[in-house]
Amino acid sequence: MNELSLHILDICQNSIKADANLITIIIEEDINNNFYKIIIGDDGNGMSEKTLSEFSDPFFTTRSTRKVGMGVPLFKMAAKMCNGSFNVDSILEKGTVISAIFEHNHIDRAPLGDIDETLMILILNERDIDVYYEHIFNNKKYIFDTREIRKVLNNIPFTDYSVIMWIKDNIKNGIKNLQKEVT
Ligand SMILES: Nc1ncnc2c1ncn2[C@@H]1O[C@H](COP(=O)(O)OP(=O)(O)O)[C@@H](O)[C@H]1O
Ligand SMILES: [Mg+2]
Repeated sequence: MNELSLHILDICQNSIKADANLITIIIEEDINNNFYKIIIGDDGNGMSEKTLSEFSDPFFTTRSTRKVGMGVPLFKMAAKMCNGSFNVDSILEKGTVISAIFEHNHIDRAPLGDIDETLMILILNERDIDVYYEHIFNNKKYIFDTREIRKVLNNIPFTDYSVIMWIKDNIKNGIKNLQKEVT
C-alpha cells in the first residue's frame, strides 16, 4: 500500500469488526529524532492470548471467507521495511492497541495520503462509532474528535453534505497548518 492512510483504514476496519465504539488514532512525527509513529487503539472485543500469539503467522485470520489475513502483517512489514518497529497489545473484552514506528526520512516510508477520506469512511460507518484523531508534528498538534463535533452539530447527522465537506476541510487544513513554518 502506498499510503499510510490506507494501512490505517485497514487496521481500523478490524476495530469496527471487533465492535469498537471508539477508535483512537495518534500520529506523531518527529523530524529531529527521525521517527513517524502511528498508534491505533480501540475499545472493541480484543483478542485472546492465543489469537494474539498467532499474529506471528502472516497467514492468520479468524475470518472464514478468505484464509489469508493481511491487514496487520502488511502494516508490520511496512514499518519493518523502514527500520521501524511494530507492536500489538490486546486484552479480551477491553480492546486493542497497535503501534507502528517508521524512520521518518526512510525512502520507503509511504506518505500519509488522504487521511481525511479514511476518517470520513470510519465516521460514516453504518454503526455510530466515535473517532479521535491526534496528529503531532514536532511540537505542534492537531486534534479531531467526533465526540466534540457531535455536541456542536446537535441533531444534524454526519451524513449531511455540508457537514462532510466541513469535516474534510477541517482535517486537511489542520494537518497542512502543522507543517507550516512558524515565523
Ligand atoms: N482491533 C482488533 N480487535 C480484535 N481482533 C483483531 C483486531 N485486529 C485484528 N484482529 C484479529 O486479527 C485477525 C487478523 O487481522 P488482519 O490481519 O487484519 O486480517 P483479516 O482482517 O483479514 O482477518 C482478525 O481476523 C482478528 O481476529
Ligand atoms: Mg483486517
